[in-house]
Amino acid sequence: MIQRPRRLRGNAVLRKMVRETRVDKSSLVYPIFVREGENIREEIPTMPGQYRYSVDQMPFKLEALKRAGVGRVIFFGIPDKKDEMGSGAYDEDGIVQKALREARKQFGMDLYLITDVCMCEYTSHGHCGLLCGHEVDNDPTLLLLAKTALSHAQAGADMVAPSDMMDGRVLAIRNELDQNHFTNVPIMSYAVKYASGFYGPFRDAAGSAPAFGDRKSYQMDFHNRKEGIKEALTDVEEGADILIVKPALAYQDMIREVSDRVEIPVAAYSVSGEYAMVKAGAKLGYIEEERMIAEMAVGSFRAGASVYLTYFAEKIAGLMDQGIIG
Ligand code: PBG
Repeated sequence: MIQRPRRLRGNAVLRKMVRETRVDKSSLVYPIFVREGENIREEIPTMPGQYRYSVDQMPFKLEALKRAGVGRVIFFGIPDKKDEMGSGAYDEDGIVQKALREARKQFGMDLYLITDVCMCEYTSHGHCGLLCGHEVDNDPTLLLLAKTALSHAQAGADMVAPSDMMDGRVLAIRNELDQNHFTNVPIMSYAVKYASGFYGPFRDAAGSAPAFGDRKSYQMDFHNRKEGIKEALTDVEEGADILIVKPALAYQDMIREVSDRVEIPVAAYSVSGEYAMVKAGAKLGYIEEERMIAEMAVGSFRAGASVYLTYFAEKIAGLMDQGIIG
């Protein structure tokens, strides 16, 4: 007898009925860049369609997201001043802290507010931690990361997402939050984060490229699989609530493997370079933008992610409304 899997593909109603991967708007997280200043909405040159917003302009974007059904955002701050200690990261009046208070004031609990916890946007040298000579000094950095996470929680963050890749930071942040009665604030840790060329446009957007050297002493070598599993398991042990795999597109194997290995949700971060590639290809007429966006998103969910961080969040919500994804 001929096996006939094609029988299930014959018509659209049937195809939809047996679909294995379903996408829901509640799984989407939109990364937003907030900066100092007033009345600013400036396009990021390497990420057409993405902007840096001053705190007074940010609510217009948040409103559009909410209307589209994207109710979860992750904040990245662009401070005016940077210093050796990255003090803007944990300043009560830092840019992210101000953005959080404003978002909470205007949207109440209608939006779920996540923050990226890292030093690289705030340090004059652009590294993700304190320096000792030309090396990042892991343990003293933990104190500042914990302080940053606490200041975000105090300003209204619903969840914190450490992206620095220092060893032991999930535990340090968990302890700091717990001791200050933020036991209910979850940690979404960038556990499996590779040193990647895909972050290029983000570093333009945030002005966070390292002034010297690279991030290879703390972000992972893209040739390695086991190292990623180890990072994931360590973060689970330290108390992470959700694990991020990043980037997404070239790392779908890691999304699958990590989600098979851990008992907590996995998030995939489709990073700035993925966005830039699609936009550039579409602009040149080489690819069909919407189909690429759809396949990239569904690919990550199919690989096992239950959360998808993407600059295309609003676009994807629109594609879902049209039935192109769903
Ligand atoms: C901060 C951070 C980065 C990204 C998220 N958090 C940049 C980096 O590690 O260099 C990248 C996000 C993107 O490329 O969209 N450490």
